[in-house]
Parts: sequence; structure tokens; C-alpha cells
Amino acid sequence: MNEMTDQRPVTQTAAKPATLPDAQTVTEVKHWTDRLFSFRVTRPASLRFRSGEFVMIGLLGDNGKPLLRAYSIASPAWDDELEFYSIKVPDGPLTSKLQHIQPGDEIILRPKPVGTLVLDALLPGQRLWFFATGTGIAPFASLMRDPDTYARYDQIVMMHTCRDVAELEYGHQLVDSIRQDEMLAELMGEGFADKLIYYPTTTREDSDTMGRITDNLVSGKVFADLGIPPLSPETDRGMVCGSLAFNTDMKTVLEGFGLEEGANSDPRHYVVEKAFVGDGV
Ligand SMILES: Cc1cc2nc3c(=O)[nH]c(=O)nc-3n(C[C@H](O)[C@H](O)[C@H](O)COP(=O)(O)OP(=O)(O)OC[C@H]3O[C@@H](n4cnc5c(N)ncnc54)[C@H](O)[C@@H]3O)c2cc1C
Ligand SMILES: NC(=O)c1ccc[n+]([C@@H]2O[C@H](COP(=O)([O-])OP(=O)(O)OC[C@H]3O[C@@H](n4cnc5c(N)ncnc54)[C@H](OP(=O)(O)O)[C@@H]3O)[C@@H](O)[C@H]2O)c1
Repeated sequence: MNEMTDQRPVTQTAAKPATLPDAQTVTEVKHWTDRLFSFRVTRPASLRFRSGEFVMIGLLGDNGKPLLRAYSIASPAWDDELEFYSIKVPDGPLTSKLQHIQPGDEIILRPKPVGTLVLDALLPGQRLWFFATGTGIAPFASLMRDPDTYARYDQIVMMHTCRDVAELEYGHQLVDSIRQDEMLAELMGEGFADKLIYYPTTTREDSDTMGRITDNLVSGKVFADLGIPPLSPETDRGMVCGSLAFNTDMKTVLEGFGLEEGANSDPRHYVVEKAFVGDGV
């Protein structure tokens, strides 16, 4: 029924749900496993961000107040829409509801991006390493699609580790899509995709390449497999995003290779950000 033919009393249309504060509309939802999904939303015209940053997003809680959580923006800065990659926590205040969103629904998105996983927080180098577990791949999904990443580094190595093969599928499809991306190829020149090295591993289910990121770095397996020299502060830069335990262990490993932690205000060899707060679901 359109507005011209709608003869219902005004009181009925007044019952329509109010638009959320800082509302953005969901355009696409994809479920990857029973605990992982991704979705895309419209982008506020005012939102400018650096690839790798996060924003606060959410829904209205039962008390009518915004229920917000930090989410890394998984899409690159040039994209017209915003993409997010999310866990589903069965009894999580936000994600128990967020996992049911459909195209056309609205979410709240505060357009104030922040974060440490930005290219400017690192000194120039030759090789950039992304180290992620679980949904920690989200900020790197943004950075891997940013032409600036390829302009600054000769090689980008994406190490992503999950327990099971199915949990790696979002990353697999993402890397495939980047390698086939005509716009990136046009911007960066044919062969840019050769700069992107993808090293996915599982720890609980058998797969082609296995093992924790920390173990594969310390044992040297990843360097042997890829045919590249070990990490060095002269050439290598790193970004870390995972659980608190992973981030803590990674700091020890990277410091062991002589790399020093940096920040936006003090660029050095590597930067770290939590993929979530707590011990995990
Ligand atoms: C800087 C930052 C960026 C983040 N980016 C993302 C993102 O891109 N995608 C995303 O799914 N989450 C991300 N998170 C986590 C997110 O903020 C929420 O915690 C998550 O959406 C769950 O919300 P909830 O209200 O359902 O449960 P919460 O009450 O927030 O968490 C419930 C439990 O689930 C665990 N948990 C929360 N998030 C995860 C996760 N991602 N993986 C494994 N266990 C988790 C927590 O440790 C806690 O024990 C980020 C957190 C931070 C601090
Ligand atoms: N993934 C699932 O299928 C699943 C299902 C139901 C519930 N859960 C619960 O959800 C929580 C989060 O699970 P998750 O799989 O998203 O995250 P996670 O437990 O942090 O594991 C993600 C990946 O990171 C590795 N890892 C964990 N700690 C590490 C460290 N300190 N150093 C190096 N690598 C490390 C894990 O290897 P290891 O396997 O060697 O630990 C795994 O491959 C857990 O508490 C789990 O009990 C998980």
C-alpha cells in the first residue's frame, strides 16, 4: 500500500518503530558457521576512518537504551558500505540479538573511529605481518583491501589461526576476492596480488597447515614454508589482533625477534589490539 492509497488513521502509523539514533541500514548478512557471521550496512556520509580502526555499534537494549560494543571495520576506507565480521555469543547481550539481523533492519553505529592497528603507527619497512586468531582477522580484512598497504610494503603476510577449518572460510574467500579484485589491480598494477601471502592454520581440526601462530614463528616453520627470512626489526612490521592470551604471547614472541611495540603517537615495529575483552565465549 503506498502513501496515496493508505487511508488508515494516523494513530496506526504512529506505532511504527522509531528510527534508531545514529541508525544505519543492514544491506547484507552472511552466516559462516553457527558462531560466526558477517554483515554490511550503509555508511554514514560523515564517517571517515583509517583502515584497521574500530567503531561502536549495537542495537536498542530491552531498557530502550543503546547496547553498544566495539567492532573493527572489516571493509576498506574506500568502500561505500561498511562490513563487520562477528562472533555469535549464545547469551551475549548484543550478539544473541545481532545474529538475527536481516537486510533492511537498522543498527546503531557511532561514527567515531579509533584504534591502534593503523599503518601510521608503524615505522616504514619491507614486510608487513598480520597476526590474527578468530574474529581478530576483521581489522586486517580492511587493511588487506587498502591500496595504501600495498603501496607501503613489498610483501604482506596474513597469518590467521582458528580451531576448525570452517572458521577460516571468511578469510579464504576474502583473500580470493582480493586476488581477483579488478579495481585493486588497476590501482596497484597487475601482479599486486603476488605481494599478499596468506598463511591460514588450524589447531584442533586437521588441515593442510596446522599449529598456533606463536609456535609456527618460534619454530621457524612459517619462514621455512614461505621461503622468507625470520622476522627482523630492520625489515619486518607486525600487527596483532586476538584474545588477551594470544596478544600477550605474541608480544613475547615479537620482542624475542627484536621488534618493539609502537603506537599512533610513537610508531615502532609492531602494534596490538584486543579482538574482544574477556576469556572467550
Ligand atoms: C577493540 C575491539 C574490537 C572488537 N572487534 C570485534 C569484531 O570485529 N568482531 C567481533 O565479533 N567482536 C569484536 N569485539 C568484541 C565485541 O566488542 C563484543 O564483545 C562481541 O560482539 C560480543 O558482544 P556480546 O554483548 O554478545 O557479549 P559480551 O558480553 O561482549 O561478551 C561475552 C563473552 O564473549 C567473549 N567474546 C566477545 N567477543 C568475542 C569474539 N569476537 N571472539 C571470541 N569470544 C568473544 C567475551 O570474552 C565474553 O567472555 C571487539 C572488541 C574490542 C575491544
Ligand atoms: N572455536 C570453536 O569451535 C568453539 C566452539 C564453542 C565454544 N568455543 C569457546 O569460545 C572461546 C573462544 O574460542 P575461539 O576458538 O574463538 O578462540 P580461542 O580459544 O582464542 O582460539 C582461537 C585460535 O587461537 C589459538 N590460540 C588461543 N590462545 C592462543 C595463544 N595464547 N597463543 C597462540 N594461539 C592461541 C587457538 O589455538 P588452540 O586450539 O591451540 O587453543 C585457536 O586456534 C573458547 O573459550 C572456547 O572454549 C569455541
